[in-house]
Amino acid sequence: MAHPLIAPSILSADFTRLADEAAAVTGADWLHVDVMDNHFVPNLTLGLPVVKSLLQVTDIPMDCHLMIENPERWAPPYAEAGAHNVTFHAEATDNPVAVARDIRAAGAKAGLSVKPGTPIDPYLEILREFDTLLIMSVEPGFGGQKFIPEVLPKVGIARRLVDSGELKVLVEIDGGINEDTIAAAAEAGVDCFVAGSAVYSAEDPAEAVRSLRDRAAAASKHLF
Ligand code: DX5
Ligand code: ZN
Repeated sequence: MAHPLIAPSILSADFTRLADEAAAVTGADWLHVDVMDNHFVPNLTLGLPVVKSLLQVTDIPMDCHLMIENPERWAPPYAEAGAHNVTFHAEATDNPVAVARDIRAAGAKAGLSVKPGTPIDPYLEILREFDTLLIMSVEPGFGGQKFIPEVLPKVGIARRLVDSGELKVLVEIDGGINEDTIAAAAEAGVDCFVAGSAVYSAEDPAEAVRSLRDRAAAASKHLF
C-alpha cells in the first residue's frame, strides 16, 4: 500500500469561490467533485461545464464522482475533458464494463461506486476493468452526514483481493470521513479518503488535509 491519499470534496466548499477553494487544499492528492443529477440522488450540484472550468484553475488530479443516471452517455465526456478518475455508480447502469472501457479509452481512470447497502461480491469479477472502487459510507446525495461503519467489511474484502494480487483497484471511501472516523477506515484497508465537511469547515483546509493523511498513515501502519 502506498501512502494514504486524501481527496477533499468540493461539495462542502463555497461555490461562489471555487477556484480559491481548490487552491485552499494545495497538497491534496485528488480533488473530489460530486456530480448529482437530481434523479439518481435527490440533489442537484454541478456538471461538465463547471468541471471544465475547475480543470483550468487547478493542477490537483480531479476525481469526478458521478451520482447520475445513464453514465453510458454522460461519463466519458468527463474523461475527455481531462479528469484523472471518473467514477460512476454500479446501481445506475446494466453495463458497467462498457462504461469503464469508454472512460479508459478517453484517457482517465475508471471507478465503480457502490451505495452503503450494495454488496460488492457481484462486481468482483468485473473490477478487473476498473482502477478505483469507491465504497460509499453515507447514502449518496449530501455532505455532512454520519459515517456508516457497517460498510467497512466491504473495504476488507477489496483490500484482501488487492493485497493477494487478484485485483488492482485503489480502494476509496466517501462519506463522513473526519478526524474521528478515518482511523477505522484506514485500518480496514482504504487507500483514498474523500473528506468534504471535515476539510472545508476547518480554519486551514490544507492543514486539515495533512492532519487527516497523518492520522490515516498512523492507523494503517500495520498494513505495510
Ligand atoms: C455525498 C458525496 C460526498 C460528500 C462527502 O453524496 O459523494 O463526496 O461530499 O462529504 P462529507 O465528507 O462531509 O461526508
Ligand atoms: Zn462523493
